Amino acid sequence: MIEHPISYGHQLITDEDIQAVVETLKSDYLTQGPRIPEFEKQFANYLGCEYACMVSNGTAALHLCAMALDIKPSDKVITTPITFVASANGFRYLGADIVFCDIDPKTFLMDLDKLETILKFSPKGTYKAVVPVDFAGYPIDEERLHHLAEEYGFATVIDCCHAPGGSWTDSKGEKQMIGNCKYADMSVFSFHPVKHIAAGEGGCITTNRKDLYDKVALYRTHGITKDPSRLTRNDGGWYYEMQELGYNYRITEFQAALASSQLKRLDWSIERRNEIAHRYDEALQNLPILTPYRQEGITHAFHLYVIEVHPSRRKALYDYLRDHQIFAQVLYIPAHTMPYYKSLGHKEGECPIAEDYYTRCLALPMYPSLTDEEQQYVIDAIINFYLKNDN
Ligand SMILES: Cc1ncc(COP(=O)(O)O)c(C=O)c1O
Repeated sequence: MIEHPISYGHQLITDEDIQAVVETLKSDYLTQGPRIPEFEKQFANYLGCEYACMVSNGTAALHLCAMALDIKPSDKVITTPITFVASANGFRYLGADIVFCDIDPKTFLMDLDKLETILKFSPKGTYKAVVPVDFAGYPIDEERLHHLAEEYGFATVIDCCHAPGGSWTDSKGEKQMIGNCKYADMSVFSFHPVKHIAAGEGGCITTNRKDLYDKVALYRTHGITKDPSRLTRNDGGWYYEMQELGYNYRITEFQAALASSQLKRLDWSIERRNEIAHRYDEALQNLPILTPYRQEGITHAFHLYVIEVHPSRRKALYDYLRDHQIFAQVLYIPAHTMPYYKSLGHKEGECPIAEDYYTRCLALPMYPSLTDEEQQYVIDAIINFYLKNDN
């Protein structure tokens, strides 16, 4: 038997993490101190990019990207329906007209063939930005997206909230860390507790473009700067200027300390998540279940382990697992079918592959502190479900 309910994702907080937070609480700064730039430097080094800007959450990160790209009302922005709604909302805050591009049925990521079809039938420059999501931790083909961006003239923001620590291989055979922005304008991350780096709340924007970094850093804190080289005049040491209308999207020092402490374990977390994934793959292979797609040259970050089951079985399996204290999750309800997006004219039938995926998907427990016994309990429960409900 298990001692406590098993959810689809869970944070791991070690004594070292607690120590890092306590030390910060005893320090001189609770916000805007040294820990935030420290984390930003560590994260940029880890990914291999120039700039990282830490903010209060992943949604704020998306909003700031939209601001940095100067998204205006009715600008067209393409994203995927299989994501948390924040991927679209961050651009919608500025009035963008969101276009949902259907998914690839194998990877569940934005289908770049379909994207190309959308782009081909519109004049160049119609779409201001494309925002794919590395759903579940699987990387989008950023190189192909980059070529499309050059051909059709749009900015790229990769929503990497599910995928820090994952990697892929480009056509030159070079390993690319997810979020390093070698082929993208900006990438965003979330440090929500179910994510790889669990800072309570938190987010980050990465980029290699100084102009975009300067903008998101300015908008993160009210559009205020004290940088003498940017001031229009200087009345003395106290002087600052609000140069743009920004937000308070700052993060605290203790969250940054927690994020830094967790970043040290990110590689281990990815390894452990992959171990858990392989064990599920093997254990479920003789059941009427589709397990996640993989490809050579890719390190899947496995934020989620999503299986597909027959639509007629999905709810029963979900309920059966719940009855056994296993809280598997359905991720995601296609964003374009949300009442809000329907009120803007989106409708069922718009992204049929995503809608079909939604009837089949189920995210099984996947987090590095899931023990072998707990995972076995989950596997046994799934096998028992199918024994009871004949295949
Ligand atoms: C794909 C994706 N994008 C964006 C976000 C938003 O991040 P946050 O919850 O930190 O605002 C999430 C969080 O759940 C997410 O899963």
